Amino acid sequence: MASPSSERPSDYTCDVATQPPISSSSFGRSVGQTRADGAILEARNLTKRYRLGNRDVEALRGVSLRVRRGEFVALMGPSGSGKSTLLQLLGGLDRPTDGEVVLDGEVISHLSDAQATRLRREKTGFVFQFFNLIPLLDVYENVALPFTIAGVDPRHGEAAARIHGVLELVDLLGRERNRPDQLSAGEQQRVALARALVGRPAILLADEPTGNLDYATGGEILDELWRSCDKLGQTIVLVTHDARAAAHADRVLVVGDGRIRDEIELGRRENRDARPLIDRLSQLGL
Ligand SMILES: Nc1ncnc2c1ncn2[C@@H]1O[C@H](COP(=O)(O)OP(=O)(O)OP(=O)(O)O)[C@@H](O)[C@H]1O
Ligand SMILES: [Mg+2]
Repeated sequence: MASPSSERPSDYTCDVATQPPISSSSFGRSVGQTRADGAILEARNLTKRYRLGNRDVEALRGVSLRVRRGEFVALMGPSGSGKSTLLQLLGGLDRPTDGEVVLDGEVISHLSDAQATRLRREKTGFVFQFFNLIPLLDVYENVALPFTIAGVDPRHGEAAARIHGVLELVDLLGRERNRPDQLSAGEQQRVALARALVGRPAILLADEPTGNLDYATGGEILDELWRSCDKLGQTIVLVTHDARAAAHADRVLVVGDGRIRDEIELGRRENRDARPLIDRLSQLGL
């Protein structure tokens, strides 16, 4: 296999730094500081212990990682290895037992519930395996939800322009009035993706977003993820079991038994053939 890391630019050019996140209080404010090395997300020695009855489960046993602004990172690993736990800590959905998460210049791992809620609204977008759309809202209203929650009128001005932009990105213009039960599974996931992207979050976190979709539909979602990373400079962390999905990433982190076991640099490239990655993963015994 050629050394793809040599194709990797030292830092990606992207315009996300000039794009404000959604916030009723800080609408129009620029995204927070960037580290000198371009890391927008950093985890330092994260551990997570769950208490289950009278027994402790060590879900994470000391994970450190850095994600650069505009980078697309995939997390792979066996079931139960700690991928979803790690993603939740990275996005401030849960707190680590120990260690720290720094997102966009802010330590997010030990915030109060109210602060964590604000941070998730302003800095993160999530996409899950089950689309988590609100059944009574139509496509436009579902995508507009982050604006509505922030007290911003989604029918006018910048908000309306952004909603139009993400609906175009996921190819759902013309479906604005459909409710989720009037859409295919793939279309529903595209709505979820549009909703996650509309706030131009510092980071998009996706947990097996293609896990509930057929092969072709999953491929469309992956292409849209890739496009948002490449065109919008969106930083993405994707959890997946699927080497074809991970092959869209710039870098793959292999999680095993609550630790990062390996790192595979793929670099930004047009060719997303999964074969070289599958070969590497099989060398690693996965
Ligand atoms: N809320 C919880 N309470 C107790 N144990 C938990 C909890 N959540 C996860 N675990 C345990 O932590 C470990 C890691 O779980 P996690 O969901 O992060 O794995 P995963 O890599 O995402 O697996 P999968 O690929 O099956 O989704 C597992 O042993 C799991 O049983
Ligand atoms: Mg999981």
